[in-house]
Amino acid sequence: MKIPLLDLTRKYRAIESELRAQWEETFSSMRLLNGPQLAEFEREFARYCGVKHAIGVASGTDAIQLSLRALGISQGDEVILAAHAPAPVIEPIFSVGAMPVLVEKAKGDYGPDLKSLKAAITPRTRAIMPVHMLGLPCDMEPIVKIAAEKNIAVVEDSSQAQGATYQGKRAAGLGVITPMSLGPVKNLACYGDGGVVLTNDDRLAVAVRLFRVHGQSEKYNHKIHGWNSRLDEIQAAVLRVKLPTLDQDNAKRREIAARYGEAFKNLPLRIPPTFPDRASVYHQYAVETPEREPLKKFLNGKGIGTGIYYPLCLHHHEAWRSQGLPAYSLPEAERYARENLALPVFAELRDDEVDTIIAAVREYFSVRD
Ligand SMILES: Cc1ncc(COP(=O)(O)O)c(C=O)c1O
Repeated sequence: MKIPLLDLTRKYRAIESELRAQWEETFSSMRLLNGPQLAEFEREFARYCGVKHAIGVASGTDAIQLSLRALGISQGDEVILAAHAPAPVIEPIFSVGAMPVLVEKAKGDYGPDLKSLKAAITPRTRAIMPVHMLGLPCDMEPIVKIAAEKNIAVVEDSSQAQGATYQGKRAAGLGVITPMSLGPVKNLACYGDGGVVLTNDDRLAVAVRLFRVHGQSEKYNHKIHGWNSRLDEIQAAVLRVKLPTLDQDNAKRREIAARYGEAFKNLPLRIPPTFPDRASVYHQYAVETPEREPLKKFLNGKGIGTGIYYPLCLHHHEAWRSQGLPAYSLPEAERYARENLALPVFAELRDDEVDTIIAAVREYFSVRD
């Protein structure tokens, strides 16, 4: 592939010497878990996000699971989420014994359709889980309002939106708790599995801190049934090296997205939605077209990498049928799954590569008939 969808080696080369110095410090001290890198990262990232607590955990999937457990969500409870989302968001709901309830995707937005969301609330609903898909924050104000009226928690999955803003605030702490993946392909990414839970709620923070170390309040004194979920020192060091340039990297992604938006505006495809009070960080830049497959083939044939986020809605995976997930019909979410195609948008993409991608997309639409 001449222009990959994502090239992680470019960023690595840019920060290699700084990383090695940090790793050297960690390796020479042999403080590998729960050490100073983690403590500093948690402090720095909480400040960056404007929330009181950041608690490093082993992955985004764990971040969701521990958030649900901290809220006391368990057997018999329901958690509402939009049907077009990555698989790891639904697994933890089943893991805590609760039932996911899927709702329609909003038209012209990536978040849940509000009418469908309201209709899905039952006396068993304990949480709504808006997922900030592809870097675009969901429209949180009405979601938080609906949840508050019914005394339901908002668990805001910000795994794809590090640094994004909604009404001037970071997409973290907009709900009661924010699980976030920091896995290798995220805008803020470590070099392995990693995640973080953000919250302004002291009680929830205490619970997540206990869960991640087997429920131990002190060594060999287990207060609650916990789990092993730690963001290790090597990964925390990577995140600390990358955090200072996150805004700059996100600005570069926005710049590329703006160029695509301008270049594609007269083409027969949909470009990602934009809103004046939301700043997307373009974790992915996905166009929408019924011609997704031929366009993908054409671009790949020219050496341009593409991605599909995601090809199946949550109710179309075999995995959860046996666990009782109904066979929903959600036409807008299903259309999006059929039509989305992501183009390269990473911060290290060169201008000439963006030119090549734009020219190739235009060429497809000019020669296809
Ligand atoms: C929105 C969302 N939530 C949760 C996860 C799970 O994160 P992890 O892979 O770190 O477990 C992902 C991973 O891609 C994700 O995109």
